[in-house]
Amino acid sequence: MQIVSINGKLCSQGEARIPVTDHGFLYGDGVFEGLRFYNRRILKPGAHLDRLVDSALALAIELPMSLDDMQTALKEVVTASPHEDGYIRLIVTRGEGPLGIDPRQCKTGNVVIISDQLSMVSDRVREQGAKLIIASTRRLAGDQLDSRIKSLNYLNQIMARIEANTAGADEAVVLNQQGFVAEGTADNIFIVKDASLMTPPVTDGALDGITRGIVLDIADKLSIPVKEHSLTVYDLYTADECFLTGTGAELIPVSEVAGRKLQILPDPVFKKIAAYFADELGKDALFH
Ligand SMILES: Cc1ncc(COP(=O)(O)O)c(C=O)c1O
Repeated sequence: MQIVSINGKLCSQGEARIPVTDHGFLYGDGVFEGLRFYNRRILKPGAHLDRLVDSALALAIELPMSLDDMQTALKEVVTASPHEDGYIRLIVTRGEGPLGIDPRQCKTGNVVIISDQLSMVSDRVREQGAKLIIASTRRLAGDQLDSRIKSLNYLNQIMARIEANTAGADEAVVLNQQGFVAEGTADNIFIVKDASLMTPPVTDGALDGITRGIVLDIADKLSIPVKEHSLTVYDLYTADECFLTGTGAELIPVSEVAGRKLQILPDPVFKKIAAYFADELGKDALFH
C-alpha cells in the first residue's frame, strides 16, 4: 500500500493530486530523492536532504519547504506506512506555471512524498548475480546535464534500461561520452581486482550515490584498499568481482557483463561488504 504526502499533508493515493501544469509534469523540471527505511528508521536522511538541496541549487529551484518540515513529512509517511521496511520517493517540482519552459512564472513547487515497497531485482538475481549489458545510450556530459543532479528527467537512464530489457539482461552499464564506465541506470558500479575495490569517480558521469559512500566507508573499516578512478569495459570484463549499489538496488552482485561470466570466488569481497552493511542496518550509525 502506498502512503502519500503532498506539501506536508498525508493523503490517500486516490486523493493525491498535483496540477497538470506543474513543470515537474510538463518538463521533468524538478528534483527527487529515493530513500529507504529499515525498522521505521530512514537511512542517511541528512545525506539525502543535502543532495536534494544541491540538485535544487543546480537547477535554481527554490525548495518550497524547510528541511525541518521535510524531515517531519518524511517521518509522518514512515509512521503511516503499514511496513517496517520500505522505500520513499521524495519529489520537489518547479511548480505550476504557463505552457512554456520559462520557469520564471512558476508558482511555488510541490513536495510529494510516496512510500511503497521496491525491489529492483528478483531474489534469484540477488543470490546468483545480475547479468549486465553495456548500453549504447551514453550518459550526458557534465556540461549537458551533470550526473550529480538527481533531476526528474531520467530519459537517458530509461533508454539504457530499455536496452537491458530488450537484451533480457538485469541492468545496463552506462558509459560516458568518452567511453569510460559511468554507472548503472539507477545504481553505482564497483569492481574488485586483485583484492582492491574500484569505482569510477562521480565526475565520470555517476550520481554521487549515498550507498556508494556507505560502501567506501565500509571498505575503509574493513581495510580493503579502494581506488576511485576511471574504468573501461575492459576493466569490467577482467574484474575478479563486480557489484552494483543504490538505495533502491541495495547491494547487487554481478555474474555476467556483456556475456562474459565473472568468476565465482570462494571468499568474495562483495560478501564481506554486504555482511557488514547488513550488520550496520541493525545499529544506529547510518540513521541520522
Ligand atoms: C542514476 C543513479 N545512479 C546511482 C544511484 C544510487 O544512488 P544512491 O545510493 O544514493 O541511491 C541512483 C539511485 O537512485 C541513481 O538514480
